Amino acid sequence: MNFDLKTLDLTAAAFEKCDLLVVLIPEGFKPGRDALSSLAALALKSGDLSTKAGKHLQLYQAPAVAARRVVLLGQGDGSARATRQALQSAGAALKAPQTKRVVLCFGGKAQPGAVSAAVQAVADVSYVYTTTKPKADARSLTRCVLGVPQATDVREEFDSGVALVAGIEFAREWGNRPANHSTPSLVADAAKSLAKLPRIQCKVMGPAEVGRLKMGAFMAVARGSEEPLRFIELRYNGAAKDKAPVVLVGKGITFDTGGISIKPAPEMDEMKFDMCGAASVLGVFRALGELQPSINVVGLIPACENMPDGRAVKPGDVVTSMSGQTIEILNTDAEGRLVLCDALTYAARFKPAAVVDIATLTGACVIALGGVRSGLFANNEALASALQTAGDAAQDLCWRMPLDDDYADGLKSNFADMGNVAGRAGGSITAAKFLQKFVGDMPWAHLDIAGTAWKGGAAKGSTGRPVGLLVQYLVGQAKVGVPQPAGGKKAAGPRVARARAGA
Ligand code: BES
Ligand code: MN
Ligand code: ZN
Repeated sequence: MNFDLKTLDLTAAAFEKCDLLVVLIPEGFKPGRDALSSLAALALKSGDLSTKAGKHLQLYQAPAVAARRVVLLGQGDGSARATRQALQSAGAALKAPQTKRVVLCFGGKAQPGAVSAAVQAVADVSYVYTTTKPKADARSLTRCVLGVPQATDVREEFDSGVALVAGIEFAREWGNRPANHSTPSLVADAAKSLAKLPRIQCKVMGPAEVGRLKMGAFMAVARGSEEPLRFIELRYNGAAKDKAPVVLVGKGITFDTGGISIKPAPEMDEMKFDMCGAASVLGVFRALGELQPSINVVGLIPACENMPDGRAVKPGDVVTSMSGQTIEILNTDAEGRLVLCDALTYAARFKPAAVVDIATLTGACVIALGGVRSGLFANNEALASALQTAGDAAQDLCWRMPLDDDYADGLKSNFADMGNVAGRAGGSITAAKFLQKFVGDMPWAHLDIAGTAWKGGAAKGSTGRPVGLLVQYLVGQAKVGVPQPAGGKKAAGPRVARARAGA
């Protein structure tokens, strides 16, 4: 979709030819002398319209208005949150097939964040998945003009909103694709396509290279599938070479059957979304390519299928991870942590300023937090608070979860350094404790997006979360300067391996 930004007051908005003109009416709305203001003022006075976010009134061929249809839309307090909520409520009008060109006009001054929220909300409600359903009600909305009292004031925010939408839609696209249209190789091709953008590079490894790296845990998961695994390494070079990067690691299970510990049939189709962590990394790079912030970012994606097969890994099998630590695979359905742990070990070679992994990791996280907030786990206070703040600002919320060492007790094994599962209790936390065994002293955070990455039911589909949170965080870090790890030998890196060697 095409977004444009224009300086428009309501007088000028009345002359805009379009299928739909949406006028946002905030609390304390000050009507001018123009036709639209009069209409809104009248409707407010009679009580047919209220400024409550989402309340709206539709008009057809209103006198002295060029737009065919007009929606007067309550914008609440005008905040980013209220603006988004308002536009979601007006979704039906925006989605209508006869709506091709929309003008969205702010009836008052745009508050910080409201323009970006508006761009995102319009994109969100009008998004249509078409890759394997090309003819069915393709997206009708092709052009959206945002009208504000002073365009220059919000130009930067508008541009970043548009870039973010490109990232979110890229993530949604890859999240939504059925597993046979998003195999590890195809996901790798998608990553390679991002290397066309400025400052982005992509390297893809296959089974031979991954074998040489001794990623025994990752390889164990991939064993049961005919589809060859891929290890994807993306780089965005926005700052000086010697600046420590932020490393993002995305779980890329393109389909999770559970393996030999096979899942029940109902809703198993939704396990095509088990690469939404990977898709969010792709989406972030898509946005970085547009935004060009001064920061270095590495994206790592271990991608494979988790399938049952004669060669598949079996419950009780012990494998050696890249870190040297051995793992007893008690449940082959706890595969996410197995592919991530080797990617986390690999991440250390970048001497990162911070590592953030993103994974549809546990059903337990869905039980704990539902679809509203992603689970946030971190071994570093500054990183945790930066991510939490970014999530709030981007309205892509997360919630800090604990990491007390006692939670790791259940991971003890008689046959390996650890088991890959603990009991049912605190399942999202014990999963995070497993991952923590592979990060050494790198500043690390883990986002469990099992509840937030996609919706089930009638609205089944990928949400593109947490691309908003991550982009907000990275752009924020680019502005303040990424805190660099302490120099020399103290830098994160080989700590895990050394600890192991000494153990
Ligand atoms: N991909 C799933 C997690 C998941 C399940 C996300 C349902 C969203 C909805 C993950 O690989 C998994 O199967 N986790 C197991 C772990 C268990 C075996 C310890 C789970 O959550 O049941
Ligand atoms: Mn699983
Ligand atoms: Zn999984």
